[in-house]
Amino acid sequence: MENTAVTSGTQEKAALAGRTPSESMAIMTELILPAQANLLGNLQGGQLMHYMDIAGALTCRRHSGHEVATVTVDRIEFRYPIHVGEVVTVTSKLVWVGRTSMKVRIVVGTEDFKTHQSKLTNTAYFTFVALDETDRPVMVPPLLPQTEQEKKDFEHEQEKYEARKRK
Ligand SMILES: CC(C)(COP(=O)(O)OP(=O)(O)OC[C@H]1O[C@@H](n2cnc3c(N)ncnc32)[C@H](O)[C@@H]1OP(=O)(O)O)[C@@H](O)C(=O)NCCC(=O)NCCS
Repeated sequence: MENTAVTSGTQEKAALAGRTPSESMAIMTELILPAQANLLGNLQGGQLMHYMDIAGALTCRRHSGHEVATVTVDRIEFRYPIHVGEVVTVTSKLVWVGRTSMKVRIVVGTEDFKTHQSKLTNTAYFTFVALDETDRPVMVPPLLPQTEQEKKDFEHEQEKYEARKRK
C-alpha cells in the first residue's frame, strides 16, 4: 500500500495511520416493504435518506474509529422512484477527509430479482464529523486515495473545502 497520505495536511494528522476509501466502504441491502412506502406505493424520500445516513455513518465510524454526527447533506438526487418489493442497495464510500470531518458519496441502486437488471436511482454526498467522548470534534486518520478517480475526487473536494474555509 502507498504510504503517502493525501490529506488536508496537519502535522498531528500524519501521526495517524491512513486508510484507503475501500477499507471503510459500506454496502447496505434493504427489501422495501409497504410500511416504508408513500401513498404512491414508492419508497418514501425520508426513509431513503435515513438509509443513506446510516450507510454513511457506518463508513465514517469505520474510517475514524469514533462515533460520528451528520453535518451536511448535499446534492441529493432522486432519479427514479423505488417501488415496494424492490431490493435497494445503498453504497457509501469516502471521497474526502479533512481534520475532523469526512465526506462520503452515497449511491443507491435497485435490482430486479426476476430479470437481474439493476438501476441507479439516487446519489448524494453526506459530511460527518467524528466526535470524542465529550461530543467534541476529534481528528480522523488521513484518507489514502488509490485510483485515479479517487485522487481526482479528493482534490476536487479539497478545493471546495478550502473555498468554504476562505469564506
Ligand atoms: C458536528 C458539530 C459537533 C461540529 O461542531 P463545531 O463547533 O461546528 O466544530 P468545528 O467548527 O470544529 O467543525 C468541525 C468540522 O465540521 C466541519 N463543518 C462544520 N460546518 C460545516 C459545514 N456547513 N459544511 C461542511 N463541513 C462543516 C468543519 O469544517 C470541521 O471540519 P474539519 O475539522 O475537517 O475542518 C456541531 O455542529 C453539532 O453538534 N452539530 C449537530 C450534529 C447533529 O446533531 N447531527 C444530526 C444527528 S447525527
